[in-house]
Amino acid sequence: MKNLLKLLSLFFIAQMAAQKYEGLAPTPPMGWNSWNTFEVSINENLVKETADLLVSTGMKDAGYEYIVLDDGWMVKDRRDENGNLIPDPAKFPGGMKALIDYVHSKGLKFGLYNCAGTQTCAGYPGTRGFEYQDARFYADLGIDFLKYDWCNTEGINAKEAYTTMSKALKTAGKPIVFSICEWGDNQPWTWAGPVGNLWRVSGDIYPCFDCEYKHPEGNWSSWGVLKILEMRTDIRKFSGPDHWNDFDMMEVGNGMTATEDKSHFTLWSMMASPLFAGNDLRLATPETLKILTNREIIEINQDPIGIQGFKYQSDGVNDVWVKPLTDNNWAVVFLNRSDKPAKLKFDWNKHIIVDKDFNRTLDLTNDSYALRDLWQHRDDGNTNKKLNVNLAAHDVIAFKLKKLN
Ligand code: GLA
Repeated sequence: MKNLLKLLSLFFIAQMAAQKYEGLAPTPPMGWNSWNTFEVSINENLVKETADLLVSTGMKDAGYEYIVLDDGWMVKDRRDENGNLIPDPAKFPGGMKALIDYVHSKGLKFGLYNCAGTQTCAGYPGTRGFEYQDARFYADLGIDFLKYDWCNTEGINAKEAYTTMSKALKTAGKPIVFSICEWGDNQPWTWAGPVGNLWRVSGDIYPCFDCEYKHPEGNWSSWGVLKILEMRTDIRKFSGPDHWNDFDMMEVGNGMTATEDKSHFTLWSMMASPLFAGNDLRLATPETLKILTNREIIEINQDPIGIQGFKYQSDGVNDVWVKPLTDNNWAVVFLNRSDKPAKLKFDWNKHIIVDKDFNRTLDLTNDSYALRDLWQHRDDGNTNKKLNVNLAAHDVIAFKLKKLN
């Protein structure tokens, strides 16, 4: 009896420990987020038009599901007389609830943003001290996703703060994907598995391929694509279904060249990163949309075993990135890091590629694989033929490798 009680209490403790809503993000979440282009200049029409465009451009069909309103959706400096957050009536005259219903009516999901601190990064009311109340507010609105940031949190413990909000969301009773955004400062990959469904691994992205942008005001930087890609080493083993390393919202369509956008999108997919478009869909060119809706690349990102890729080798100019896929298939991406065209030679048959974290081996010395070119959308021979091509500056070639019997 005593043992049974002990077992039962252990069971309940385990239930309490698994505080997040489980299973909401079996593959990396995909959607659109307002911040990269609009910052706090957001409004009802933008959301409606974006929802319509996600449908009409085919992005929804390609997998983009969430519309997330980032910072700036609230009234500044105050809550209402009951302590509730106030969606800004000037930006959302029809009301937030009606807007969310509109997004839902398109078969899409909706997300909001707040911060664990006293104020959000842009100075709107933060959630500190209001965790359970704000969670009930979001549940009543019917949101599906909460991005929870880390500004103005002096003196707070990150694990505790995110755990409290995660429990508050669970208690409020509406399944809401919990997106942790503390920039990797407190190594969330080591503790946030039971707490959130995704967590940022870096500071903010910047629309350049390999730069660091030092903000003139204050002591912080935003980061180009390759900087974020390689900011953290050795954390891929912590990422997987329902607990993703998040490489930040994308900058596809926001000023890099089409080639760089293509590589950015390919690499985010290889990292099994959540894929949030961050561009103005009303101005998106056919080229940008073609990149964002490349289903063969998206399939690599959404592969159900959810293993983050890694850099297998580099000669300083050409990188080789690999990602294990279901059915013992692999994705292999060659990246020209340099800002000049480069020759690329790769003798597949000389390589045994080992993924130590997930215990998988791609033995190209013994096995042959069919090659599928994921940007040309065509079968391209097999691994018995050496690769010998020219790569434009910052370009990639992406293959799916399928084992031949
Ligand atoms: C932080 C986050 C960004 C964005 C802004 C909003 O910088 O990292 O992604 O949410 O705050 O103010």
